[in-house]
Amino acid sequence: MRVFQCAVMGSGGVGKSAITVRFIHGSYLEWYDPTNRKQFSVDNQPCLLEILDTAGIDQYLTLNDMFIRESEGFVLVFSLCQRDTFEEIIRTYEAIRRIKLPEGNQIVPLVIVGNKSDLIDEREVDTTEGEKLAMEWKCSYYETSARTSTNISLVFEDIVRQLRRN
Ligand code: GTP
Ligand code: MG
Repeated sequence: MRVFQCAVMGSGGVGKSAITVRFIHGSYLEWYDPTNRKQFSVDNQPCLLEILDTAGIDQYLTLNDMFIRESEGFVLVFSLCQRDTFEEIIRTYEAIRRIKLPEGNQIVPLVIVGNKSDLIDEREVDTTEGEKLAMEWKCSYYETSARTSTNISLVFEDIVRQLRRN
């Protein structure tokens, strides 16, 4: 079975841990196991995905560089209810390219995620803006809710498909 790993990155509080726990354990904000790995099937092929749930704090920028070096795929999360977190994933994207492209990677497996889609009244970023960015970066865009579990598995299935091609 193939083993893949990806990092979940984005500003503090956007829901990186909630998304990871929702995917791995199927629960919301409940921890069972700190080893973030899950065996599942994508297109009828089994795989094991190891997920690095990073901390979205600016002081850890150098740590982020290390996470980027060690990861093959990236889930870039922002909050649909906080515009500045959308701007922040652009900076992370630039860091990923700065680190990964000189290593000979032409394409970096990556997914954009706008989380907290359940908070409809608090939305600050439109679907079209996420879609536009995804078009520019030639990747997929998903709007998720870790709270209601909406679209969470699609994110990780997408990243596995990209990692297989890579
Ligand atoms: P750091 O680890 O500090 O970088 O934050 P994080 O990105 O891991 O965020 P975390 O998962 O801890 O979630 C932050 C807050 O947002 C928590 O209070 C969650 O309850 C809330 N939250 C996360 N995902 C969702 C969601 O999909 N919908 C709603 N309504 N709240 C969410
Ligand atoms: Mg967290």
